Parts: sequence; structure tokens; C-alpha cells
Amino acid sequence: MKKNTYSSEKSFLREKSFFISNAYILVGHRCEFEKKGDYKTIDFFEKSITIYKFKEKISAFTNKCVHRGCKIFTKSKGNSTFVCPYHAWSYDHLGRVKNIPFEKKAFKLNKTKIRLEEWFLDFCGDFIFLKSKKNKISLKKFLGQEFDPLLKISKNIYKCIDYQVYKWASNWQICVENSIDEYHAVFLHKTTFRNVLKLEPKYEIKNNVMKMKMPLSKNYIEKFKKIKDYFNNLNDTYMHTLFFPYSSISSTMGNSYYIQNYLPKDINNTNVTSTIYLPKSKLKKNPVIEKFFSNTCIKFNNEIFNEDKDICESIYSNVKNDNPKEHIIGNLELRINSFRKKLDKI
Ligand code: FES
Ligand SMILES: [Fe+2]
Repeated sequence: MKKNTYSSEKSFLREKSFFISNAYILVGHRCEFEKKGDYKTIDFFEKSITIYKFKEKISAFTNKCVHRGCKIFTKSKGNSTFVCPYHAWSYDHLGRVKNIPFEKKAFKLNKTKIRLEEWFLDFCGDFIFLKSKKNKISLKKFLGQEFDPLLKISKNIYKCIDYQVYKWASNWQICVENSIDEYHAVFLHKTTFRNVLKLEPKYEIKNNVMKMKMPLSKNYIEKFKKIKDYFNNLNDTYMHTLFFPYSSISSTMGNSYYIQNYLPKDINNTNVTSTIYLPKSKLKKNPVIEKFFSNTCIKFNNEIFNEDKDICESIYSNVKNDNPKEHIIGNLELRINSFRKKLDKI
């Protein structure tokens, strides 16, 4: 069904119920959940969701204690026991209440009947995708031909170096459209992408997977030569792939990997997540250079996010009541058309 404006309540609710049943969200990588108690939270619509490593299994639950609704995890990432901070109810790997302080004195409960709301995780190699229990599509089917290449990337990642959560006052679709807009990269991002990219994108679009590859600038390739020998299997492109509708992965040369999500909070606000990873390389043996390179990646990414936040908020304040059809879309922002076409079918 075609929507009229970005701020149409009706379209938002229709898309919400569609994506809760059909979307896969790329939430992370196994390397973030190595130790028992490692966790990460994401916000999806009005819910906070925690991905948590139990003794053996990684599970996902709505971050809402069944007692009186407190958030069990208040940080976006960390390591802790699965215990609510309010009255110390604890939970097991199936989301069942394990222990209730003063249970006999305070309650008459059948503990086996109360559980946290569960979300499901599916794996592409070591990448972790989250879906709701309503989603009956397999991840293999969702990713199609991209499953194997993505699995290969996941096996090449060894370390997470950054996880950030941002709140942008913009509709989520504007944020996704910005992320698949190659055209702006060399103008808005003057101190970062302008020095890295050659604006010659090539697209490959198939169902839920919208891929883009672009050559790197001579200047960047030249500069990178200094530390090139620390890496294995580098390529000579910048790649960015959107997994419709919320998640993306990007990489420069394969020297670092960036996962991003643009998850709706409500019509006017988006929860943006960014996770950065390093590939397996000889950097591991050189902690000083690894630290330096990691900090460069984090700084580069942060700068881009701040510029994109301002732009998305500026656009949304202007186009709230526009019909997206009135906008002019060119060949250097081609995926925006594919993204809109897919949304129109919902
Ligand atoms: S709200 Fe969590 S233990 Fe009371
Ligand atoms: Fe940008």
C-alpha cells in the first residue's frame, strides 16, 4: 500500500506489525558473547531487548522484569548476572524466574508459569540476527545468495572494538535512506568519506539484500600502504549492504567492519546502533598499532554519525508532510528507489 507522508500514523502502524513478523535484525557477532554474562541491549519500537550469554546458549528476551516491569539491564553492553536490580528476581536461559527473594513470605506463585518474553536468534556463521517469534521465514531464505558471503565475513571477524547507541529525532525511513545514499558521502562527510571514496557506486539488488560497492580514492590506498602488511585478504573497495529494512554492514577494504541498525522508536524517533569489528590480522600481535587503528575507526565513524544525525533531523523537520514521491532521486542514490518500492508493497 502506498503511503502519503513520512509521518502517516496509519502506514507506521501497518509497517510496524509487518516488520515485527517479518524482519531480521543484525544485532551482533559471537565475539561479543564469549564469556558467561556478556550482554548487549537494543531498543526496537517501545521495547528494550537484551541479547545475553548464558553458560552455553546466547538468548534474547524483552528487557522487562515480570515482577513490576523494571529494566533488568540498564547499560547498552556489559557483563552481569541475569538479576533484576529492583527486587533481585533472577532468571534462567529459558526466561523462567529462577529465584525470588522472600518468596514464601511475600508471594503465592506458580513460578513455572511466568516467563520473560522471548525473541529468537538465528546465525549466519558467527553473525547474530534477531527475529520475533512470529517470524516464520528462515534466515537462509531471508538472505538468499548473500548467506554464504556473509558467513565468510563473519568467520574473518575476531574482535568488537565499539558499540554505540544514538537517538535521532527523525523518522527511521529518512535515516535508512541516508545510509543508502552514496551521493552525499563526499560532500557532507568532508573530513572522512571525501578522502576515502571515489563516487562510482555499483549496485546489486536482490529481494532483501541491497548491495553497493565503490572504488577507494588513490589517496586513501596510498596512505593505507603504511599499515597494509598487517592485514590479510584485503580488497580494493568500500562496500555497504542493506538487509531490508533496518540493518546494514559496511567495510573499507575489509580492514574493519561496521554493523548499523536504524530501528524505529516511534514515528518521529529512531534508535541507531553502531558496532565496529576488526578482522583477524597481524595487528593482534601489535597492541599499540591495533589501538591506534581502532581509535581511528571509532573516530571516523563517530564523526560521520554526528553529521548524519544533524542531516536526518534537518530533513525530517522539513519533509514530515511531503509525499516521498515528490523527491528527485538520481543514480547515485539508487537504492532509495528500491527501498521505497519494497516499502510501498507492505
Ligand atoms: S521489578 Fe524486577 S524484581 Fe521487582
Ligand atoms: Fe552519511
